[in-house]
Amino acid sequence: MNNKMSETLYWEKGTLFLLDQLELPSKVVYRKCKTYTDVIKAIKNMIVRGAPAIGVSAAYGMVLAGTKAAKLSPTEKIKFIKKVSEEMIQARPTAVNLKWAVDKMCVVVESSLKLNPENFVAALESAANEIYDEDIECNKIMADFGARLLKKNSVVLTHCNAGALATAGYGTALGMIRTGYKNGKIKKVFVDETRPYLQGARLTAWELQQEKIPYTLITDNMAGYIMKTEKIIDAVIVGADRIASNGDVANKIGTYSLSILAKYHKIPFYVVAPSSTIDFSTLYGTKIKIEERSAEEVLKINGKEIAPKGTQVRHPGFDITPASNITMIITEKGVFKPNKISTLKKIK
Ligand code: MRU
Repeated sequence: MNNKMSETLYWEKGTLFLLDQLELPSKVVYRKCKTYTDVIKAIKNMIVRGAPAIGVSAAYGMVLAGTKAAKLSPTEKIKFIKKVSEEMIQARPTAVNLKWAVDKMCVVVESSLKLNPENFVAALESAANEIYDEDIECNKIMADFGARLLKKNSVVLTHCNAGALATAGYGTALGMIRTGYKNGKIKKVFVDETRPYLQGARLTAWELQQEKIPYTLITDNMAGYIMKTEKIIDAVIVGADRIASNGDVANKIGTYSLSILAKYHKIPFYVVAPSSTIDFSTLYGTKIKIEERSAEEVLKINGKEIAPKGTQVRHPGFDITPASNITMIITEKGVFKPNKISTLKKIK
């Protein structure tokens, strides 16, 4: 990762350290996870968030579960790991990278059952490190593919945070923006604040500021006005939490509305995501489970109530953007028209 930035997460001597994303941008604080339950709590509470970052954290969470189970018999080990993996996957149900990483770790558990406790934990640790390294590598490849699609000096708009903070490092959508800026393809970024968690205002703005990439923050409901009146947005670039086999994309709530605006204004709409975000077993976006989060997250900003007591709230954390609203999906395996994303299954 760029050394000017703090790392999203790191593993040191059997402990997972997570940069607390609830404290950003005002404080850079790391939280220690010494047990798998610490990791589950951190994922649920959004100390760590963003689909790939959750997946990598869960992989280390499985190392911690493996450490606890290392001395159990093979049958007991399998039973324990199965229970932990179910709990882990439920922590954030929409982001499929979480399940992808946990499933990968379960395969390592099964193939390492005969190892002594020390080697069993070492096998899990090395698998988690591989998931971490691969994530950064994929992001850099996608960034190169994506940046090539842009014309020189583009002005782009992004939603939520799909940056280094949402991954092991470099970022998906923001990775493309980083490389695009470096290569003279991007001159400025509009950042949606992204209610209710303000990932855009707090996290994306923080990352762009550290990298000295020019940006302007807008509230979510300003995007249409900017597209219409200023006519300067050349592309919308977002990440994904789960991509269905037909190319429909689940991403942060508000992405769907943005895709409609982009289509209406004839602005290319790019989704940048590693192949671990594609869920080939889900045929259509409508089949994706959308996480409902607490009412309190909508009713309060910085701990302060913003609506009358007793107000009814809905809080879907994500929405589905239909494949027909997406120009291209950029993965580490290449750039695909959304309706062709299922061909990736063959090259997996
Ligand atoms: O609720 P969050 O902050 O975990 O949601 C994150 C997003 O929706 C991101 O756009 C997505 O995970 C892609 S991250 C590279």
